[in-house]
Amino acid sequence: MERRRRRAEPQSCIPGDTALAGLLVAVLLGVWGAQALEMSVGKIPFLEAVNGSTVLLPCTYTSCIGIKNLYFRWQFNDNGTMQKVCDSVIAEEGAKPDVKIYRERVEFVGDSKTNNISILLHNITFEDDGQYTCFGRNPKEKGKNHSAIFTLIVVDELKVVDNTLTIIIVSAVGGAIGLLVAFMLTKNFVLFVMAKIEEKNKECLVSSSGIDNTENGLSGSKADSKATPKKA
Ligand SMILES: *[C@@H]1O[C@H](CO)[C@@H](O)[C@H](O)[C@H]1NC(C)=O
Ligand SMILES: *[C@@H]1O[C@H](CO)[C@@H](O)[C@H](O)[C@H]1NC(C)=O
Ligand SMILES: *[C@@H]1O[C@H](CO)[C@@H](O)[C@H](O)[C@H]1NC(C)=O
Ligand SMILES: *[C@@H]1O[C@H](CO)[C@@H](O)[C@H](O)[C@H]1NC(C)=O
Ligand SMILES: *[C@@H]1O[C@H](CO)[C@@H](O)[C@H](O)[C@H]1NC(C)=O
Repeated sequence: MERRRRRAEPQSCIPGDTALAGLLVAVLLGVWGAQALEMSVGKIPFLEAVNGSTVLLPCTYTSCIGIKNLYFRWQFNDNGTMQKVCDSVIAEEGAKPDVKIYRERVEFVGDSKTNNISILLHNITFEDDGQYTCFGRNPKEKGKNHSAIFTLIVVDELKVVDNTLTIIIVSAVGGAIGLLVAFMLTKNFVLFVMAKIEEKNKECLVSSSGIDNTENGLSGSKADSKATPKKA
């Protein structure tokens, strides 16, 4: 299960060819001093994957001041003890690192041309569940440490939960529709019965009023309406 990730936005390095730019550089130097090297595991720093699958643990680095002998390392937090997953040194920008792997099923798939130091974890097991730290140190910054944490959540079949949920939804919707149909049928039946009763009552009213009307000498019109009883 691989995730699509956006390229790390290139950090803008202001060219110092004008006085203004020079001033800006001077003003912002402090900020850059603290953030010269930055490790990034992307906008979504976690992944949920089914055991047995192969996952990408993404990591990229950016540096405004450039890199020289950049040391990087992936480590896995196993109950509080940091285990080395892999490490290497990138001599200079774009130089291919000779990556040492310390953990099984790990493959380095990064590319220093794109500042990419991602790794693949093959056939994951439940023991692989946990926090992975992408660590970097650029000697240009006098041994400052930088890191980013990526969390891998190993699950047992995502689909079972989905199916159960679908079944629940389907039966709930089906049940609701059934109830609605039953309600409509009942309502229609009740309305039909009520209409019948009303009809009966009307007939009674008409006949009784007819008697009254007969008494008042207006029998003609009322008698006609009685002759055509309404059917529901
Ligand atoms: C890093 O490299 C891997 C493997 O080639 C790729 O899948 C991933 O998208 C790359 N990440 C970035 C941010 O370019
Ligand atoms: C995932 O784990 C479950 C439970 O341990 C197991 O039955 C299943 O075979 C595993 N799947 C894979 C692809 O390893
Ligand atoms: C990690 O901790 C869990 C429970 O706290 C324990 O079962 C497991 O054996 C530990 N793993 C290691 C490698 O120490
Ligand atoms: C992953 O599992 C498949 C099938 O079980 C196997 O062929 C492959 O060699 C495994 N890959 C690694 C890196 O262990
Ligand atoms: C950087 O990390 C190393 C371990 O990799 C540690 O020995 C060192 O003290 C850390 N330096 C700082 C400034 O935190």
